[in-house]
Amino acid sequence: MRAGVIRAGGLSGLLLLLAGCAGEQSIFSSAGEEAERTLLLTWILSIGSLVIFLIVLAALALALWGRAEHRRWLSSQNTVVRGGIIFPVVVLSALLIYGFAALNSGSPAPGEDAVRIRVDGLQWWWRVTYLDANGEPIETANEIHIPVGRTVELELRATDVIHSFWVPAYAGKVDMIPGRDNSLTLLAREPGVTRGQCAEYCGGAHALMAFGVVAMEPDAFDAWLAAEAEPANITDEAGAEAFLRTGCGACHTVRGTPARGTAGPDLTHVASRLTIGAGILPTSRDAFLDWLKRHKQIKPENHMPAFDTLAENDREAIAGFLAGLE
Ligand code: CUA
Repeated sequence: MRAGVIRAGGLSGLLLLLAGCAGEQSIFSSAGEEAERTLLLTWILSIGSLVIFLIVLAALALALWGRAEHRRWLSSQNTVVRGGIIFPVVVLSALLIYGFAALNSGSPAPGEDAVRIRVDGLQWWWRVTYLDANGEPIETANEIHIPVGRTVELELRATDVIHSFWVPAYAGKVDMIPGRDNSLTLLAREPGVTRGQCAEYCGGAHALMAFGVVAMEPDAFDAWLAAEAEPANITDEAGAEAFLRTGCGACHTVRGTPARGTAGPDLTHVASRLTIGAGILPTSRDAFLDWLKRHKQIKPENHMPAFDTLAENDREAIAGFLAGLE
């Protein structure tokens, strides 16, 4: 799509670009309070600057081609003081006060029943850890489920380089910095699926470091989290054997099996996620197979070994096994 925008010239290019503003990762469709405030500020600044720009152009036209009396009015001390000093001071001060107010009303206050989620940014995926009522961690990856109407406290960290956590539908960007814990509080208004994206260049596959955010009704969320806490339901013994024998478990965890690796995403319930590869392919058995075959082309520079020596039947078996991990 991006290449298409560059190739298509003029108006069609602009139309394509605007089409990119709609959809699940649009900065123009807010699903939470904080995003709404940011959006309002964006509109005020955009429309305000456009109006001022038009006034400046009109003044320029007047200076170049206006009648002598108009030009005299334009260059009078009165006009210069009002338009060049008083107007900008008043407008910029008002915007500054409004901007600070919008910032300070900041995130929703964390409630008693707030959901705590730790999100680690890694090259180039997201480790998502829920802390249940007993403080026990429940790990998943590349998809964040949140309940509607309950505040969600996100603890944002990074372990390798600086990333930036961004879900435009809910809030602004927050950097994830190694050695420092940042936080962000979200409040979803209604159920729905939106998309987030790493917003800070973090190396090769930065543009392919996305994630889904699924806002659910509180009951559905509780049921989802309870299911997520369960170990994997292994129905495909042969597939599990291939997965373990070929060494996948060195980097990936599948709870309920000896696979305990932590270098890559936890795969315990990977088939229940909307996408694989951190927002890259819609989940399906074919997508797992495709990933195993040519993930170095699908997501260049990702840290998973190429595994191009894998036998075709092992690949099929592993794809089937992963597709069964609901
Ligand atoms: Cu992580 Cu860009």
